[in-house]
Amino acid sequence: MVVARSIALKAVNTASLWGLNRSRFGGLPKVQTVRALSTVMSPPSKAVVYEHHGPPDSVTRMIELPPVEGQENQVCVKMLAAPINPSDINRIEGVYPVRPQVPAVGGYEGVGEVYSVGSAVKGLSPGDLVIPSPPSSGTWQTYVVKDHDIWHKISKDSPIEYAATVTVNPLTAIRMLEDFTTLSAGDSIVQNGATCIVGQCVIQLARYRGIHSINIIRDRAGSDEVKERLKALGADEVFTESQLEVKNVKSLLSNIPEPALGLNCVGGHAASLVLKFLRQGGTMVTYGGMSKKPVTVSTSSFIFKDLSLRGFWLQKWLSADKAKECRDMVDYLLRLAQERKLKYEMELVPFDKFHSALEKALGKHGSQPKQVIKF
Ligand SMILES: NC(=O)c1ccc[n+]([C@@H]2O[C@H](COP(=O)([O-])OP(=O)(O)OC[C@H]3O[C@@H](n4cnc5c(N)ncnc54)[C@H](OP(=O)(O)O)[C@@H]3O)[C@@H](O)[C@H]2O)c1
Repeated sequence: MVVARSIALKAVNTASLWGLNRSRFGGLPKVQTVRALSTVMSPPSKAVVYEHHGPPDSVTRMIELPPVEGQENQVCVKMLAAPINPSDINRIEGVYPVRPQVPAVGGYEGVGEVYSVGSAVKGLSPGDLVIPSPPSSGTWQTYVVKDHDIWHKISKDSPIEYAATVTVNPLTAIRMLEDFTTLSAGDSIVQNGATCIVGQCVIQLARYRGIHSINIIRDRAGSDEVKERLKALGADEVFTESQLEVKNVKSLLSNIPEPALGLNCVGGHAASLVLKFLRQGGTMVTYGGMSKKPVTVSTSSFIFKDLSLRGFWLQKWLSADKAKECRDMVDYLLRLAQERKLKYEMELVPFDKFHSALEKALGKHGSQPKQVIKF
């Protein structure tokens, strides 16, 4: 007990050098509330932190956080991998509506291995593979301590990089295919940003249900290769934006019905292209705004096509008492990944190279696969 207290004290002193309390970084308890019989201890943790909102490559830095003693109902997890998602970038920039209070550790999803458990924890043991589910902030660090019920134990056979990325994007793909229109085999959907992880999942999940996908990508060097890769995943049609500069985009479709559902993660002109494909009474769901340009809709789209515009936000869906459903879907998606029935492009990057990965995720080196940090 004396040892534990002295470590806790050391933790406070070291953290105070930064004017920080580690509890702010990863949901750790405030040291004053630590109970004498706590049994979970976290080793020092290397973390990517930000103390102010702003451009992620300027405001983030890697530091070592001191060891912390957790509570009896908490679990310390040694992180194995975590992605850099666009929403992580938005949180650091301070433009995401729900974000941790600064100073904060970055990251929102990831996978790790249980390192130690508090004495009151049941159902989790050292060595178990776990993900925070629903996702939770502070995954860009080597050791995370959180309440036991945050952690979802997954199959030890799950591929690590998929376990790290399964929640935010693949789950979004499933929900958008399920929640807005009733799609049957033989129907079609249209989407822009088809190269993103959500887009790659949409293609495959649609294909399993016999639904055709029409995909729009940005014009860029190597677009023929990209088209082939998306077709290998199951895409029926892939067009660059410039290919769609025609009077009637639907004339480009062969044997695919007009889509009832459109998915937009880009905005601007790319959103207008999705709208052009939609059939009478169709629905476009906006879930991202990668171009940072607004969605504009012609008056005639409303009057003559009666189109509907909707939005999807996973965080809102998760907060509607969907924790159990979320975990069931995560298990389902991980089984697909394990069987290689669901795949998407990722680049695994050692934690020490975090800032190179961040530059790629920020688009500073052109189009790049999803950057996944390996701890
Ligand atoms: N609403 C929700 O609940 C929810 C959930 C998950 C994801 N999202 C959103 O979904 C989108 C995709 O996320 P992700 O993690 O799947 O993406 P990702 O795999 O990291 O890929 C990024 C995508 O954005 C495209 N892109 C980047 N900069 C662009 C620009 N300036 N103009 C047009 N396209 C650009 C890239 O196209 P290239 O391949 O051509 O570079 C690529 O398709 C993001 O906006 C994210 O915030 C929303």
